[in-house]
Amino acid sequence: MIDNKKVLFSGMQATGSLTLGNYLGALKNWVALSDEYECFYAVVDLHSITIRQDPAVLRKRARALLTLYIAAGLDPEKNCIYYQSHVSGHAELSWILSCFTYMGELNRMTQFKDKASKHADNINAGLYTYPVLMAADILLYQADVVPVGIDQMQHLELTRNIAQRFNAIYGDVFTIPEVYIGKAGAKIMSLQDPTKKMSKSDENPNASIYLMDDADAIRRKCRRAVTDSVGEFRYCEEQPGLRNLIDIYCACLNKTPDEVVKEFSGSGYGQFKEAVGEAVVSVLDPLQKRVAELEKDKAYIDSVIKNNAEKASYYSMKTLRKVQRKVGFPDRIR
Ligand code: TYM
Repeated sequence: MIDNKKVLFSGMQATGSLTLGNYLGALKNWVALSDEYECFYAVVDLHSITIRQDPAVLRKRARALLTLYIAAGLDPEKNCIYYQSHVSGHAELSWILSCFTYMGELNRMTQFKDKASKHADNINAGLYTYPVLMAADILLYQADVVPVGIDQMQHLELTRNIAQRFNAIYGDVFTIPEVYIGKAGAKIMSLQDPTKKMSKSDENPNASIYLMDDADAIRRKCRRAVTDSVGEFRYCEEQPGLRNLIDIYCACLNKTPDEVVKEFSGSGYGQFKEAVGEAVVSVLDPLQKRVAELEKDKAYIDSVIKNNAEKASYYSMKTLRKVQRKVGFPDRIR
């Protein structure tokens, strides 16, 4: 609790171009929850270097992502928006927690197996202990709730296990976080293969809508989205392409699948795809305009970066000092 408010933590990586999945599965919910909680939103640049990055590009993307958080509607006066690398507590707690995490647990992480197969030439130890750093992010702020897309559920479960294990040994040190999954958009699928998640790293540019795509590209990608030959307008597992488009439409316009099925029953897929394109444009166009506006104000963004890193450091230190004491590190001499 901070000032009688429950705490929320979440983060996003600045690698690759963010997709509509990142926005609908995570960022949109962050904004919706931001009044209710004391929020910490990190640009998780420590996680990003588990895959080789061009330093200049990473720096640029990290700033663009931080700007996007604000453009999406997170007020940096009320929400702590910062770079993970500016708060040393993340890496320090991660080390301690790695001594309370079993290799057997890390071996089971599907995202590690996935990434290791995609980057077979660079299966580094950071990629392997990535979920421990994630646990440190969350536990450092004693977060009560963590809004993420479905693909992060396994990491959240591990975080809870590590926290419970630590608490069982040392008493109530960590708050056990709950995962928050949004009603719509928690798993946006590829537009070209609706059995796969929409991902920044997809090689086919038509598979993903990027947050910075212009209106024509968005409309074109929706028009080309893979559906099926059933020809009936239903929301069901057997029609995953159509189902995904309905999910996107619902998440953009805050509708339910039932409402959408009623609205479009009897319409062709073509007509619906046009409507999905317009719905996405109606969300992303204003977002892109706000990003462009904010990017002009360098001094303002710099002040957010500075002030919020200090705020995050302050709260993270409270937990870190407590943990260091519990595990037996000597007290500092003042
Ligand atoms: P990342 O950067 O891959 O994704 C950021 C957020 O976007 C969600 N997401 C999706 N949601 C719906 N459909 C999709 N196709 C889709 N693709 C991505 C993700 O679930 C995530 O919520 N390891 C994390 C970042 C992280 C973090 C944390 C998150 C680091 N520390 C602590 C929460 C708490 C990651 O790489 O997310």
